[in-house]
Amino acid sequence: MSPGRCCGPTPAPTSPTCGAPRTAARCSPGSSPSPWWRWPPAPGSANSSRPASTTTRRAASRTSPRCSTSTTAWATRGPAWGTRRPALAEPKAAHTPRPPFPAASFPTDYVRAVFGNREPVLEEILRDSVLERGLPAIQVDDNAGRILQLLVMLRRPRHVIEIGTLFGYSTIHLARGLPEDGRLTTLEIDPAAAGAARRNLDRAGVGERVEIVVGDASGYLATVPPESVGMIFIDADKKSYARYLAACFPLLEPGGLLVADDAFAQGDFSGESAEGGEGERERKAIHAYNRAVGRSPRLFSAFLGTRNGLLVSYKG
Ligand SMILES: C[S@@+](CC[C@H](N)C(=O)[O-])C[C@H]1O[C@@H](n2cnc3c(N)ncnc32)[C@H](O)[C@@H]1O
Repeated sequence: MSPGRCCGPTPAPTSPTCGAPRTAARCSPGSSPSPWWRWPPAPGSANSSRPASTTTRRAASRTSPRCSTSTTAWATRGPAWGTRRPALAEPKAAHTPRPPFPAASFPTDYVRAVFGNREPVLEEILRDSVLERGLPAIQVDDNAGRILQLLVMLRRPRHVIEIGTLFGYSTIHLARGLPEDGRLTTLEIDPAAAGAARRNLDRAGVGERVEIVVGDASGYLATVPPESVGMIFIDADKKSYARYLAACFPLLEPGGLLVADDAFAQGDFSGESAEGGEGERERKAIHAYNRAVGRSPRLFSAFLGTRNGLLVSYKG
């Protein structure tokens, strides 16, 4: 949960909606002595092309997240995205700062000036969901919503999955971009949020194209046939991002898009953790996701500069 996400009519409340029951993330300090995504790779490892120098070893131990590799090692296997990136292209990653990163400024007012005010139906949905129903205003910002719609319009997927519906704000944008024969399945663990989403989707005129599945996202993802989904948007509990990556990658068809929100790992995610705390675990989990995606030879990825950052990956 990030207060910076609030673009609703009130400041973001600190409701623990996003702290609904979680499966423990598999990130554990020091759980793997030689993660596959670490740069530089250990000498002699699969992605090593040269012996590690003292300098590079020091850089790696200073900057590498300490997340287990087990959930994401699959991403290096199978047919590569082009060829594996040359060794010299990567060492900069060793200097990646650990999250949290310095707060970035986003020109919200300028974006609003260009695109105009939010549509009345979206304004009503936000007011009703946040002020009347007390749901947290942690939906995507309006420009991120436009980007989601744009990505769907460009990709024209027949099936889109969203992980983390809340009251359906991003869902509406995704659904609006669908082609004629497209459908969207959105996954939400909180029944109250899912109920609000159903009403909001109908209100926005996209209800017929969207199925809401209430429950832990992992249960539904396990039922989806491999390579059958054109786009997946991940925006649920941050600690599970690596788990979602492992679950979603096989479901994407070649050419499919994987999009993760909060990719800049900034803000306060404490409301998304049942244990509370500073949200440090969430930030590390997002960072581990970013690194895993960035290193995968099967995904071509780029950050899109929304307020909280989207990481968009194309499966080759
Ligand atoms: C950040 S909000 C989603 C916001 C929404 N995508 C938007 O921008 O309008 C995250 C949502 O994920 C849900 N969630 C958390 N853990 C989940 C899980 N394991 N399975 C499904 N949904 C989950 C929370 O209840 C919350 O509603």
